[in-house]
Amino acid sequence: MNQIILSGRGVGKTFGALKAVWDVDFEVKRGEILGIIGPNGAGKTTLLSMINGTLSLTRGSISFKDQVISGLKPFRIAELGISRTFQIVKPFPGMTLLENVSIGALFGKDKIRDAKEARERTRAILSTVNLRGQENVAVENLNISERKRLELARALAMDPELLLLDEVMAGLNTTEINWIMALIRKLNEKEGRTILVIEHVMKAIMGISHRIIVLHHGRKIAEGTPEQISNDEKVISAYLGERYAKRRAE
Ligand SMILES: Nc1ncnc2c1ncn2[C@@H]1O[C@H](COP(=O)(O)OP(=O)(O)OP(=O)(O)O)[C@@H](O)[C@H]1O
Ligand SMILES: [Mg+2]
Repeated sequence: MNQIILSGRGVGKTFGALKAVWDVDFEVKRGEILGIIGPNGAGKTTLLSMINGTLSLTRGSISFKDQVISGLKPFRIAELGISRTFQIVKPFPGMTLLENVSIGALFGKDKIRDAKEARERTRAILSTVNLRGQENVAVENLNISERKRLELARALAMDPELLLLDEVMAGLNTTEINWIMALIRKLNEKEGRTILVIEHVMKAIMGISHRIIVLHHGRKIAEGTPEQISNDEKVISAYLGERYAKRRAE
């Protein structure tokens, strides 16, 4: 579990005068679940977008399996084995679930060229995310929980070694959150995927992450086990709040 699959050195992104992410070093070990937390606007999504290539870097570099990937186009990075979900779910409109997810299978690491094979892979994945039997439903008819799972399915269809999840639990109820947590654990433990997960749901991120990185105003302010992070004074004052710390202590 100590092999580094992804690393960033001095990573930064500016939007005009704003340093959305600045001088961040990070490492993700193969096989781990790494959580990223921090207040709204801390730079979490920006960091994820630099990893998968949807945003360019202003400074620094990112390497995946010893290859520099910063500067590559998102589709190339996807082919190398990294896929992501979007915080604001973006299904392809006017298409069914099957069509939406098949696109992932056609463009991912294995680049399945056979439509039938892509369909079979898609059916299996829809079943993994508990959307079995809904392949012919139009995406417009999905509720928030189903949309989140479709987003996950599209990312999984690319068969990623490294899966980047951006708030897949936002807006879900406790039962749905527990189900997604179990799924993330399964993708990690049974399917051997390395997972980087951004989440505001504390119970979930503390429960599934092996390690957590905390961003604040674009900077990394802490890194450690969920236990260490929960007790870190900087993190409590920047993000978790005294109430969270007190509740945990009780
Ligand atoms: N395309 C953009 N153009 C200009 N500013 C941006 C852009 N994307 C993000 N920002 C700004 O960069 C900062 C970091 O945003 P980012 O979306 O990465 O935060 P976040 O940690 O994901 O927040 P949240 O928890 O609310 O999702 C914010 O101040 C945001 O307004
Ligand atoms: Mg975000």
